[in-house]
Amino acid sequence: MYKIFFFIIIIIIFLQSPPRIQSQIIPRNISIFILAGQSNMAGRGGVYNDTVTNTTVWDGVVPPECRSNPSILRLTAKLEWKEAEEPLHVDIDVNKTNGIGPGMSFANRVVNRFGQVGLVPCSIGGTKLSQWQKGKFLYEETVRRAKAAVASGGGSYRAVLWYQGESDTVDMVDASVYKKRLVKFFNDLRSDLHEPNLPIIQVALATGAGPYLEAVRKAQLETEIENVHCVDAMGLPLEPDGLHLTTSSQVRLGQMMVDAYLAIPNSAQPPLYLPFLSLLCSLSYFYNILERFL
Ligand SMILES: *[C@@H]1O[C@H](CO)[C@@H](O)[C@H](O)[C@H]1NC(C)=O
Ligand SMILES: *[C@@H]1O[C@H](CO)[C@@H](O)[C@H](O)[C@H]1NC(C)=O
Ligand SMILES: *[C@@H]1O[C@H](CO)[C@@H](O)[C@H](O)[C@H]1NC(C)=O
Ligand SMILES: *[C@@H]1O[C@H](CO)[C@@H](O)[C@H](O)[C@H]1NC(C)=O
Repeated sequence: MYKIFFFIIIIIIFLQSPPRIQSQIIPRNISIFILAGQSNMAGRGGVYNDTVTNTTVWDGVVPPECRSNPSILRLTAKLEWKEAEEPLHVDIDVNKTNGIGPGMSFANRVVNRFGQVGLVPCSIGGTKLSQWQKGKFLYEETVRRAKAAVASGGGSYRAVLWYQGESDTVDMVDASVYKKRLVKFFNDLRSDLHEPNLPIIQVALATGAGPYLEAVRKAQLETEIENVHCVDAMGLPLEPDGLHLTTSSQVRLGQMMVDAYLAIPNSAQPPLYLPFLSLLCSLSYFYNILERFL
């Protein structure tokens, strides 16, 4: 009888305990990466048309390369740091169904080089480069989020990851001024973030929504600004829509962006550097003491 009573009490306590709420994390010295562009940066890997409900859904498959890690955070739409999980743009590109993009694959490959990685998702599907010019909503929103990330993360900007341009392949004028707009966008962003040499890893298009794909790709591959590096997504396998990278393509793209990023001199300090240095210092200290007795 007593046992049953005890059991019921336990059940009641269990039922009344609040659900596990993921609270905001206050980082100290976070390495910040800004993710901007359109749908392929927001992520559509694993997104398909459900023929039963006639809606677009994400299959929910998170490959090991994109798994969460307590040291990888994400700045939410409310400007709070939370442990990052796919889909990264779920509360940013709110009118679309988001899936896997390159961000988590990138972060998982660099996290061991930094104490903490902070991703700042800013991408919106279907947007043209003209919408990313200084003074426009998307631009100002990106600057606002980036500044909030530094202010609340006590860290520093490491790079901008940029994948955009599919929507600029439709109109001949958009395609022909793409390079000019891109250079202005990169320069304005660096200047507003007070990081004149901020590394930018951009992606040359794999697909386009219109006929001027080659013109936009040429602009991307020949941007020719210092510390702007281009990786080429052309040839990576696509979803059946012929426009979006699959989940495994996004994993690969994230790794390609890491390779481009780490090729930049001093882009990341090895994690063992500081402990190693302090070990050397203490060794030499003890050596000095020993020397006195010998
Ligand atoms: C879903 O269907 C729409 C309309 O038929 C099509 O435009 C789109 O490309 C499809 N999306 C995918 C991911 O297959
Ligand atoms: C599915 O949705 C699309 C547009 O959203 C519409 O054109 C199509 O007729 C719908 N198909 C069915 C079977 O309801
Ligand atoms: C989503 O759609 C609403 C209504 O059309 C619009 O006001 C809003 O700006 C859209 N948001 C994004 C991020 O596209
Ligand atoms: C912050 O982290 C970076 C590398 O992740 C390191 O180089 C730097 O010394 C750290 N700064 C402080 C104050 O800990």
